[in-house]
Amino acid sequence: MIYRYSGHSGVQLPVLSLGLWHNFGSVDDFSVATQMVVKAFDAGICHFDLANNYGPVPGSAETNFGRILKNQMASHRDEMFIASKAGHDMWPGVYGGNSSRKNLIASCNQSLKRTGLEYFDIFYSHRYDGETPVEETMQALIDLVHQGKALYVGISKYPPKLQQKCYDILKEAHVPCLLSQYRCSMFDPKAKNNNFQIAADNGSGIICFSPLAQGLLTGKYNNGIPEGSRAARSTGFLQQSQVTPKRVEAVKQLAVIAEVRGQSIAQMALAWVLADERVTSCIIGTSSVKQLENNLDTLGNLTFSEEEIKQINTIINNPTLWF
Ligand SMILES: NC(=O)c1ccc[n+]([C@@H]2O[C@H](COP(=O)([O-])OP(=O)(O)OC[C@H]3O[C@@H](n4cnc5c(N)ncnc54)[C@H](OP(=O)(O)O)[C@@H]3O)[C@@H](O)[C@H]2O)c1
Repeated sequence: MIYRYSGHSGVQLPVLSLGLWHNFGSVDDFSVATQMVVKAFDAGICHFDLANNYGPVPGSAETNFGRILKNQMASHRDEMFIASKAGHDMWPGVYGGNSSRKNLIASCNQSLKRTGLEYFDIFYSHRYDGETPVEETMQALIDLVHQGKALYVGISKYPPKLQQKCYDILKEAHVPCLLSQYRCSMFDPKAKNNNFQIAADNGSGIICFSPLAQGLLTGKYNNGIPEGSRAARSTGFLQQSQVTPKRVEAVKQLAVIAEVRGQSIAQMALAWVLADERVTSCIIGTSSVKQLENNLDTLGNLTFSEEEIKQINTIINNPTLWF
């Protein structure tokens, strides 16, 4: 595994982290989920990304992760970096799904209970909710650190203007933002131009999610929607309407470049995200150990020639492909 420092912090993270958004819920096979977590950890992926609402059902990914920890890995807690988040819809009523202090504090308490952890290594505000003043949200994060429920804090998907405000508030409270989480892939490069530099200038690490565009950048949709794939599942977040002919055609063109590099398209897509040195880590999702192994092999080639970048840009510098 390769590790990078998270911004200006002393914390290092593996360049590949494992996300539990899909495939770890109560609707999924628990033994496969266990194998993926154990395999990841054995390969040096010590960073696991959770959120209160991951499942389905919401909360069940945290419950399952807690079971795996207890059953298999309890003695390794200090070798692991475990994240959770709050801010999206989780429980009924007006307190169950925004970025208020009420939601964040209650949610963190619930997440600790579900996972059986004493503290999270990082707790994020999952999103700006459009209403709650960021001062309130950031103060809740700061207080979670002061209460010993989180070691570090992070923000996810904040727009550039509010991103800076968050960093300023956190810095003043001496609880600097460890990680800023943004969606980033060959099919979604917008954060690279909008958010990354602001994070880097403020000493925050950057962690990218959905680096494979939820599976599109693996070539699995090149001949339609395969059974069992995320786009085929009623509980999957990838809509079949997002598997467009233009995106599929672009994947086929990218695969030609990947083949010359001796990589699968998925491996090249992950390497592309990590080629930006501002990025600390990218969070992958997997539905099998085989996928995880395939993605781990990315680490053999993370660099691109100028010619390769030129060829890739000719294909992906096309906003009709972007999410
Ligand atoms: N902060 C936020 O708001 C936010 C939002 C979204 C995600 N996240 C985090 O980011 C993590 C990753 O997101 P993501 O799951 O969308 O990431 P992703 O890596 O873009 O997509 C993962 C999916 O791609 C397919 N896949 C992965 N490797 C493959 C391979 N080698 N061959 C074939 N198919 C492969 C699998 O889909 P199939 O199921 O079809 O096999 C897998 O479930 C989440 O788990 C979560 O922790 C954060």
